[in-house]
Amino acid sequence: MIRFGQDPASLAQAAEILRRGDLVAFPTETVYGLGADARNPDAVAKLFALKGRPQFNPLICHVADIDAAQKIGVLNDMALLLAAHFWPGPLTLVVPRQANCPVDLLACAGLPTIALRVPANPTAQALLVQCQFPVAAPSANMSGRISPTHPAHVTISFPDITVIDGGACAVGLESSIVGCFEDTLYWLRAGGIARCDIEAIIGRSLESPPSEREQLSKLAPGRLARHYAPTHQLVISDMSPQRDDALISFGGAETEHTGLHIDLSPTGDLTQAAARLYAALYEMDQALTSPQAKIIIRPLPEDGLGEAIMDRLRRAATPADQ
Ligand code: TXA
Ligand code: MG
Repeated sequence: MIRFGQDPASLAQAAEILRRGDLVAFPTETVYGLGADARNPDAVAKLFALKGRPQFNPLICHVADIDAAQKIGVLNDMALLLAAHFWPGPLTLVVPRQANCPVDLLACAGLPTIALRVPANPTAQALLVQCQFPVAAPSANMSGRISPTHPAHVTISFPDITVIDGGACAVGLESSIVGCFEDTLYWLRAGGIARCDIEAIIGRSLESPPSEREQLSKLAPGRLARHYAPTHQLVISDMSPQRDDALISFGGAETEHTGLHIDLSPTGDLTQAAARLYAALYEMDQALTSPQAKIIIRPLPEDGLGEAIMDRLRRAATPADQ
């Protein structure tokens, strides 16, 4: 275990570790977060792999203040009202992604929305000011284990990760999550700020919970059968590509296709493949000229992050009429 203090030199070093694409656990007032540079697909993929998240659940992006939040998400009047009252503090707002948002798509699980949080903990604040980039951070525990409220808890899950020691967390419960879309505010997760305190500020009730259908189509389209789909037909197959088709392969095996081709990881590294997946689908979809052309992707091994990759690919490959 590498434990860092909260002095400026240690925090500058922690920011540097994040900037170079490695992970750092840091205190917030809710629970300890396992941070990664949210702009860096390799760092985000490393985070999913290390946590053992069975799916690419979207991550919360941590920033120092409202200005930084508005660079990556669109805060409407209601969102701004909540931010003015509760930030910095244990409230996460889910809002539409800003145009040209630099946050990697994998951090948002390919969704058009982004979860934003401005933590109040002074060490987290100082770290985010040092970074000057959004830090994606889930709770710093192995998937399925208890959220850590002390550096020693982090070390149980991640013995080799750098932890900034900020002592015990003041709130000890994850942030409350509110979704702000057009006219509607959704209560997405109960947490460190009580529902009634939020409703007192906005002067009306939070919608709770959004209907299954709405939730699926608007908030978590990732759970619909068909999603993350490129406009061209996506086929998961070992078939030979036609000249016009695009091929996405894995593990460096394919060399004969003369058309568009991306190998997600020539060395067969699933973490690297996860980091490159969404970008590869976008790139191929844009590069294909004929509307009939297909994107053919080779099945990947389903261990580790391969399970989440194949889950997303199966959804993307589901025909539109299903
Ligand atoms: O207090 C906290 O929020 C802690 C500290 C570290 O900040 N973080 C935390 O992260 O609890 P995590 O990954 O354990 O929970 C993130 C939650 C998940 O329930 C996820 O589904 C939701 O945020 N979420 C993130 N992005 C979302 C989005 N675009 N739409 C809906 N839900 C989203
Ligand atoms: Mg968690």
